[in-house]
Amino acid sequence: MLNIYHSIIDLNEYLDKARLAGKSIGFVPTMGALHAGHISLIEESSRQCDVTVCSIFVNPTQFNDPSDYTKYPRNIESDKIILENTGCSCLFVPDAKEIYPDESFKHITFDPGPIGMILDGAHRPGHFAGMAAVVKRLLDIVVPDKAFFGQKDYQQYLIVKMMTAYYQMPVEILKCPTVREKNGLAMSSRNQRLSPDEREQAAMIYKTLTWAAHEISAGNLSFETIEKQAMFDLMANGKYNVDYFDICSAETLEKLNFNKNNEPLAILTAVWIRDVRLIDNILV
Ligand code: PAJ
Repeated sequence: MLNIYHSIIDLNEYLDKARLAGKSIGFVPTMGALHAGHISLIEESSRQCDVTVCSIFVNPTQFNDPSDYTKYPRNIESDKIILENTGCSCLFVPDAKEIYPDESFKHITFDPGPIGMILDGAHRPGHFAGMAAVVKRLLDIVVPDKAFFGQKDYQQYLIVKMMTAYYQMPVEILKCPTVREKNGLAMSSRNQRLSPDEREQAAMIYKTLTWAAHEISAGNLSFETIEKQAMFDLMANGKYNVDYFDICSAETLEKLNFNKNNEPLAILTAVWIRDVRLIDNILV
């Protein structure tokens, strides 16, 4: 049965009882418009923990573009049905006053340093500050044993991991694989804003990432050449704009020109299909 809570007090009463009964708590924070990517996190949490809490809160402070916030899909009634069918124990749907009782709550945030200034940090000013503030607040409310994040938002995952380590929060942060459409497009709530044709075109993003990963392994082309070719392919094959297509250290996200230390790599990209911005990455 899905227990639904709007207030912190009611949620805490439920979670206190679970803790007293010796149950472990898993947490999946989301902004709703749930899809198979979110469901995979909830299923992983249910496998690893006795109780799974999913939160749905479209956090205004992490949208640098007000129209992206307005247009962000909101399907709370169908989300409830999805959660019920997935076997999620508990849904937390706070309103903004519960998360931000006053303005000061919006400004208390974690500064991750250089990793927060590159890639999406550079292209979406304020995004990671807003994201870190809300994730800290949600983790402080739920106090889970484990929290589950998708690799799809890889930079977000690294920043959350860094933040919880910095504050010595008693939570384990786990990364779950990116769930994709049949054509390779990473599932995203924003995909709802694409037409069927655009969804097909957007498969190009994952194809290009896969091509770049293959070229890195083959070792014939420099990273710079791979990045330039990938940008060219993405821009020439559709009406896309590309914010970045970068080959980086998977640990620090520092952009690399070559892999002199033979370290794990991440290839990350952000692509605009019309006015819809999609991100994706793969680890090499
Ligand atoms: P949202 O975009 O709703 O994503 C919630 C979680 O689902 C994130 O951990 C995200 O990485 C994961 N996710 C999204 N698409 C996925 C996919 N295709 N495969 C696997 N996991 C996927 O990310 C946020 O919300 C917000 O920033 C949030 C953390 C909730 C803070 O507001």
